[in-house]
Amino acid sequence: MNAIFRMLMVLVFANLVSQAGAQDLGTRKGKELFEKKCRFCHQEGANGKPGFGTSLSNKEFLSIVSADWLRKVIETGITGTTMPPQKKLGDENIRAIVSYVQSLSPLSGTRAKEVASQPPSRGNAKSGKVLFANICSTCHGETGTGYDAGGSGPAIGTQGFLNLVTDGYIRTTIKEGRSNTMMQKFSGPAGLANLSDRETEDIITYLRTVPAK
Ligand code: HEC
Ligand code: HEC
Repeated sequence: MNAIFRMLMVLVFANLVSQAGAQDLGTRKGKELFEKKCRFCHQEGANGKPGFGTSLSNKEFLSIVSADWLRKVIETGITGTTMPPQKKLGDENIRAIVSYVQSLSPLSGTRAKEVASQPPSRGNAKSGKVLFANICSTCHGETGTGYDAGGSGPAIGTQGFLNLVTDGYIRTTIKEGRSNTMMQKFSGPAGLANLSDRETEDIITYLRTVPAK
């Protein structure tokens, strides 16, 4: 009995080691693919550069998105921006890239479910429009067209972007910002502006009217 148990443990352990090995291999392959297919815009280490591509390496972003979401965005691209659809890379390669991107933060995916299940915003689009013009438009463009408008921020007022994200995603990003980018947090006394919860909801509700058309 004991000997069988020990043997079982050895088998389980060997299996775990080989799984971890396969994971590492996927991540390494993903990094190579990232360098060929994504680095030009998203930059070394996926750290991003205004006008080219967003940072995919910060923990605020990586913690609120799932592997499935990342896969989908890579497959479909983001309509109306330079983020290209890359379904042609194939399922296995896309999985490898996702595994590399997720390896950039130990928090990857940890809040994805919670954030996706947050309630939709119910604010005042009119007041959100004024707040957007005063606070967000300098970087994201007057109607949220992003880099096209010459600012440092990506497109957030376009249908292509809005179709891909939940209100929880937008809400969390406004409240927490993205470390190591120009997107600082808009909550608390240290924020770029200390927006109240209501003001934040107003801005999200306005964005949902798809200002960029
Ligand atoms: C030609 C430039 C370009 C290339 C190449 C490119 N991207 Fe992007 N990507 C962008 C831009 C620009 C955005 C922001 C879109 C917007 O304005 O909403 C983006 C957004 C994203 C997003 C959504 C996250 C966010 O912050 O909006 C993910 C995930 C992503 N890219 C992953 C990748 C991966 C992985 C590759 C390589 C397989 C890749 N991209 C290749 C330009 C590019
Ligand atoms: C100082 C410039 C600046 C201001 C002001 C600013 N942003 Fe941003 N924002 C950015 C940049 C740069 C990014 C992309 C960060 C990155 O590289 O990942 C971003 C990203 C975002 C994203 C995520 C986009 C994505 O592709 O995932 C949202 C949502 C957002 N900002 C909303 C807002 C809102 C709402 C406001 C106004 C309250 C605002 N931002 C004000 C610069 C700014």
